[in-house]
Amino acid sequence: MKTKILSTSEYDIALAGEILKNGGLVAFPTETVYGLGADALNEDAVKKIYIAKGRPSDNPLIVHVAEKEDIAPLVKEITPAAKALIDAFFPAPLTIILPKSDKIGNTVSGGLNTVAVRMPQNETARALIKAAGTPIAAPSANTSGLPSPTRAKHVIDDMKGKIDAVINGEDCNFGIESTVITLAAEVPTILRPGAVTKEMLEAVIGRVEVAAAVLEGMKNNETAASPGMKYKHYAPKARVMLVNASREKYESFVNTKKDAFALCFEEDHITIPKITFGKECDDLSQAKEIFDALRRLDDMGAKKVYARMPHKNGVGMAVYNRLIRAAAFCIIDLEQPFTIGLTGQTGAGKGYIGKYLEALGFQILDTDAYARKVCEKNSPYLAVLAAEFGNDIIENGNLNRQLLADRAFCSAEKTEKLNSILHPAILALCRKDAVFPCVLDAPLLFECRGNEMSYKTIAVTAPKEIRKKRIMERDGITAAQAENRMNAQKSDAFYQNHSDFTVINDGRDIKTQINTILEEIL
Ligand code: TXA
Ligand code: MG
Repeated sequence: MKTKILSTSEYDIALAGEILKNGGLVAFPTETVYGLGADALNEDAVKKIYIAKGRPSDNPLIVHVAEKEDIAPLVKEITPAAKALIDAFFPAPLTIILPKSDKIGNTVSGGLNTVAVRMPQNETARALIKAAGTPIAAPSANTSGLPSPTRAKHVIDDMKGKIDAVINGEDCNFGIESTVITLAAEVPTILRPGAVTKEMLEAVIGRVEVAAAVLEGMKNNETAASPGMKYKHYAPKARVMLVNASREKYESFVNTKKDAFALCFEEDHITIPKITFGKECDDLSQAKEIFDALRRLDDMGAKKVYARMPHKNGVGMAVYNRLIRAAAFCIIDLEQPFTIGLTGQTGAGKGYIGKYLEALGFQILDTDAYARKVCEKNSPYLAVLAAEFGNDIIENGNLNRQLLADRAFCSAEKTEKLNSILHPAILALCRKDAVFPCVLDAPLLFECRGNEMSYKTIAVTAPKEIRKKRIMERDGITAAQAENRMNAQKSDAFYQNHSDFTVINDGRDIKTQINTILEEIL
């Protein structure tokens, strides 16, 4: 098929209207992203949209109208909340979902009994809908799964040869798709955040919820309120990782990376190849540029991309929602310095797992070694201990361990005091040395709250008999001594309840268990 490239002249818009009337497909600019339009009341025409985009047939389309009066025939009823939103916002980058009327076919609604309606702001879009003389079903005019098009060039890249015409209009003003809110739920719920924010909606209709999938992604067993949520979205060819960090931390992290690109804000000082998407404190500028930036990364052949995390307030929530999907939910959290917190019962095999992770390239931060550092000669923490437990526990800069033990372990309260000094000190030293990806290897991970500073936690447990044998061999002690030590430890259930993942070291292959966990974590 030859795709006509049309202008925004009156003549060309009339021509595009004719194409739509006759069941053809026309891509057109809106204030959000380019849409791929077909006559919403013509099932055969609508089917062509799904084919051109490669879109799953259960993912419904938004029906676009030129005037507010054109909404009523498409829905069962304009509820008071719907009327309030229409009056307050339309025309707007806002889509409202309501129970559908008989006019709406199953292809448009993806088999649902609701319909999504929107009245765009963009003059060309409204002139086109008027010229067609029918409501226009239009998803974003990209190939399914790719970033949405915010420039005519993006549409031509994706759709040339597959549709009848593209209107070569201006770049999209907002740059991300409309806010989608359903009024067909018990409480009005945002299914997709956009330029019309939760706060703006709440100012008009009161309480509005945000669907969990907006920020977190769908769990495997969840059904989607909006079918679009469950599909892979906005993904460039490059592997994108979202980095949660202050500007300074992001810069020093990214600037050491080889063969990678930064997807960052204009203000960031980046020395590796980069593409920017707006300014740090200007979420509208980020929205406008994010999809174009993702496409440019592909044009430049980027394979690995470290993206700066936008804040999640206002329109920032919408930018975050698109980026987190582009990154397939992969977050590198530099505010949580430890990638993995590793713990487990004595003799269960924590050391073995640490060695395996180290061989895979993880830095291992051994809290036992750091505990010795905290107490070594001239350590600044000795003064803190002395202030609590008496100056005589320090002799010539050295810690008298026996004296400290005598004073600290005489009561639960004193022991608690000791831990409240040692644990934060150990974590602070580990944190200073931590380099992504790293493992905080800590027998008392939960007690020292190292889990709170770890992105994910892994605990290893093993059956009692196996552990006993290992401890006796490792430390050359008797069965009774080994049992004593084991009795002081927490139960299997404790570790299972407190950690994100549990590895069971009972003869099953440990490496396979770890590999499966790593796939999920990274
Ligand atoms: O800004 C926009 O909304 C753009 C421009 C062209 O108007 N259009 C757009 O359409 O983004 P599309 O198809 O790419 O995204 C529509 C989203 C999908 O996630 C779809 O699942 C959801 O809206 N949706 C449509 N109808 C729905 C319905 N009845 N119930 C729940 N979700 C619906
Ligand atoms: Mg889309």
